[in-house]
Amino acid sequence: MATVMSNGHDTKFRSADAAEKRRLLHHDADVVIVGAGILGCALAVTLGRQGRSVLLLEKSMKEPDRIVGELLQPGGVQALEQLGLADCLEGIDAIPVEGYYVSYFNSPVQVPYPKLTPSSPSPLGRSFHHGRFVMNLRNAALACPNVSVVETKVIDLITCSHTQQVLGVECVTNDLKDCYFGHLTVVADGYASKFRKTYHPRTPKVRSKFWGLELIDTKLPMPHHGHVLLSDNAPILLYQIGTHETRILVDIPENTPSASVENGGVKGYLRTITLPSLPESVRPAFLAALEQGPLRCMPNSYLPSSSSTNKTPGMVILGDALNMRHPLTGGGMTVAFNDVVILKDLLSPQQVPNLADTDRVLRQLSTFHWQRKNGSSVINILAQALYALFAANDVNLRALQRGCFRYFELGMTDGPCGLLAGLIKSPSVLFFHFFNVAFLALWLVIREGPIYKLPFLLIRAMIVFWTACVVIFPYMLIEAFC
Ligand SMILES: Cc1cc2nc3c(=O)[nH]c(=O)nc-3n(C[C@H](O)[C@H](O)[C@H](O)COP(=O)(O)OP(=O)(O)OC[C@H]3O[C@@H](n4cnc5c(N)ncnc54)[C@H](O)[C@@H]3O)c2cc1C
Ligand SMILES: *[C@@H]1O[C@H](CO)[C@@H](O)[C@H](O)[C@H]1NC(C)=O
Repeated sequence: MATVMSNGHDTKFRSADAAEKRRLLHHDADVVIVGAGILGCALAVTLGRQGRSVLLLEKSMKEPDRIVGELLQPGGVQALEQLGLADCLEGIDAIPVEGYYVSYFNSPVQVPYPKLTPSSPSPLGRSFHHGRFVMNLRNAALACPNVSVVETKVIDLITCSHTQQVLGVECVTNDLKDCYFGHLTVVADGYASKFRKTYHPRTPKVRSKFWGLELIDTKLPMPHHGHVLLSDNAPILLYQIGTHETRILVDIPENTPSASVENGGVKGYLRTITLPSLPESVRPAFLAALEQGPLRCMPNSYLPSSSSTNKTPGMVILGDALNMRHPLTGGGMTVAFNDVVILKDLLSPQQVPNLADTDRVLRQLSTFHWQRKNGSSVINILAQALYALFAANDVNLRALQRGCFRYFELGMTDGPCGLLAGLIKSPSVLFFHFFNVAFLALWLVIREGPIYKLPFLLIRAMIVFWTACVVIFPYMLIEAFC
């Protein structure tokens, strides 16, 4: 028997009561959600509040202890507000985030989140302990009378052999097999999804890993800001996640020679390469954390969604299982919450009276695929393109990296930062700023040498421009048309 988490509600509605009985006794609901993470919880609450009967299945209800999902962009905060879940940010010692502090070979520039109109308040993001935030989201689901949360490990999808329709899931709890059925099964089991293989045409590409440490009582150069440190090496992120705790994430690309076993491995890299590049004020806490551990790591994946993904009746893949981008820009949770905002409307009882109507659901999911692009593709392209520039490993990418930093120095921060924050959902704005950066990078290359070198510099500038196109167009195409 699976462990059912009680939600202690008052049983006012007889039909809601009968639905709960059907969930708990017959394991049958309108919606079965696999994974009570960022996306699963928000979707469960949203659909439950619309009167749907929801089963939310999670393999471990213990507080997650992970180095992911710790900085929520202002666009994600807004989406949480639209979902009526903003109070999940309370009571977890969350730190307000006002923007970024970008340092390029130790010269810094401030990149504040832009106000969308002069009179509106400054947008704020939040950074926090991931596990505490997830526990608040889970508690919101537990407090929802139309949602039953069950601690169980899903091991397979149950499909109808004639129609291929997904009917529900098979799970294991305490070595006992069990099944749950729903008109719609939502796969939201995260970055290492076990269930996307057969249904998603793409596989995640991993170019680097983030190595994380927790620093205690360290002083950042600019409190209430995400810190991005750029140099000849891959980027480093620093942000406070609680009154006393600061996260550092160090990006190390696959096959980095200075992190090879002969060179002392990752610990050697962190000691000889990372430590000297940190602000003085951060070094003591970093050394202490390095000595004490634990040192943890996560793969940084890119997984574009595809128009052929959610075409199976009775099922939808969402969250990281569907779509990932490099976490440099902290966009994953914002994309997930925005997706729930879109589905709140597209799957509402007004639009889809009965979720058993799989044709109708599939039509809505096709609309969802294209509608979510405005927001998600901007965040995805920006994350991948910025990572290419910030982890620059050749002279042309370095020229673009320099162009990007000078662009910020010139005060051109509102557009790029608004895109990153999830506040501006317009691919054309991204395109505009990216090529402004590219042209600035060209100009800086041309001005590098004396006039008699001009022919040579012009050729170099053309190669830099070509590099910019190679960085962005593949992502633009795949995000816009697939
Ligand atoms: C290094 C790193 C740093 C990141 N930093 C940020 C950041 O600062 N800001 C940001 O917005 N995003 C960040 N992200 C991305 C963010 O973490 C994800 O986008 C987000 O967590 C996705 O939510 P999800 O619900 O799809 O998956 P998850 O939050 O991973 O939830 C999946 C849930 O499914 C459960 N589950 C898995 N398998 C099963 C099963 N078989 N049966 C039952 N349950 C199961 C898991 O236990 C988990 O609770 C980062 C990612 C990485 C890799
Ligand atoms: C639960 O669902 C019922 C319909 O079954 C609906 O009337 C009620 O408003 C829902 N309750 C909440 C708290 O969302």
